[in-house]
Amino acid sequence: MFRIKIIGAGQLGSRHLQALKGVKQPLDIQVIDPSEASLRVAQERYESVPSGQTHQISFSTSFDRTDTTDIAIVATNSDVRRTALESLFDASKTKLLVIEKLLFNQRADFAVVENKLAETGAKAWVNCPMRVMPVYEQIRANIAATPISYRVTGSQFGLVTNAIHYIDHVAHLCGCTEFELDTSGLDRTPIPSKRPGFLELNGTLVARFADGSRCEITCYPSGTAPVVVEIFNEKIRYIVRESEGKLWHSGESSKWAWLEQAAPIPYQSQITTEVIESLLSTGDCGLTPYATSVRIHLQLLDPLLELVRSQSPETAGYPFT
Ligand SMILES: NC(=O)c1ccc[n+]([C@@H]2O[C@H](COP(=O)([O-])OP(=O)(O)OC[C@H]3O[C@@H](n4cnc5c(N)ncnc54)[C@H](O)[C@@H]3O)[C@@H](O)[C@H]2O)c1
Repeated sequence: MFRIKIIGAGQLGSRHLQALKGVKQPLDIQVIDPSEASLRVAQERYESVPSGQTHQISFSTSFDRTDTTDIAIVATNSDVRRTALESLFDASKTKLLVIEKLLFNQRADFAVVENKLAETGAKAWVNCPMRVMPVYEQIRANIAATPISYRVTGSQFGLVTNAIHYIDHVAHLCGCTEFELDTSGLDRTPIPSKRPGFLELNGTLVARFADGSRCEITCYPSGTAPVVVEIFNEKIRYIVRESEGKLWHSGESSKWAWLEQAAPIPYQSQITTEVIESLLSTGDCGLTPYATSVRIHLQLLDPLLELVRSQSPETAGYPFT
């Protein structure tokens, strides 16, 4: 039986937990969250998944010392993530980790955790799941690591918390992780994030990649425009309307006629099933390796912090999650 821990069982942690129900290998699951309310909702959500395997499961507000943890999923918010990881490492030797984005609030935490992983021999991935979604993997096969134009537009979708997904996705599509961030199109005044205690920004963020790819993300401060993702190069164009589960593509092969295709976007409660099965059977998965994600996070977060500090010099760390 494999020992799995979920640390942080809030909105997203409870979806990861639901996904575990479908994992075909037998699991001993421990869910850890200081909030009784979160644990209760997580348990209800787990029990509401109709079918699935019979795993052992326990819920706890603190860490018990245990033997080896095969996989830990760390789904707290960014401000407590380093502490949560340290409690995990103190409680048991952990082999593999899936860590939520945005990783940390403090620049120093990125290296502290990297050193801890190296010291203990643990391997970690960051949950940027566009890399493992079949529809986006099909696009990647057709784009074939060429420089791309990538544009995201929509209303009030949480620009910073989601920018990591899109920039990570461009890095995956074009095979290049070096970029420069242009924050000149952002509104300079942050707004409260939908997650209490954190901030967000509106406006346009541009990442210019070293291979010539360009990622432009625009978040309108008002309105109801659904998020649309456009991915173009000189041979093919894609428009993905995730909320409708559809994409349109046009290219040389269709003489540039636009063709419609189903593009179902899986839920986290489905994605994690495959990620965990892959980690248990191969020790690897398609999410972003920790070291790669650290590079992408810092190139995104440092200029954003500079922008926030230009208005509020006292800002202590990255105020995003
Ligand atoms: N990868 C994705 O697609 C995706 C999607 C949504 C959210 N997220 C990220 O997931 C994170 C969590 O988001 P959320 O909406 O679930 O937040 P949330 O506030 O609903 O959940 C956070 C949970 O962590 C718990 N917690 C606090 N301190 C803890 C500790 N020391 N140990 C264990 N648990 C602790 C809280 O009690 C809470 O239940 C955010 O960073 C968010 O950006 C990622």
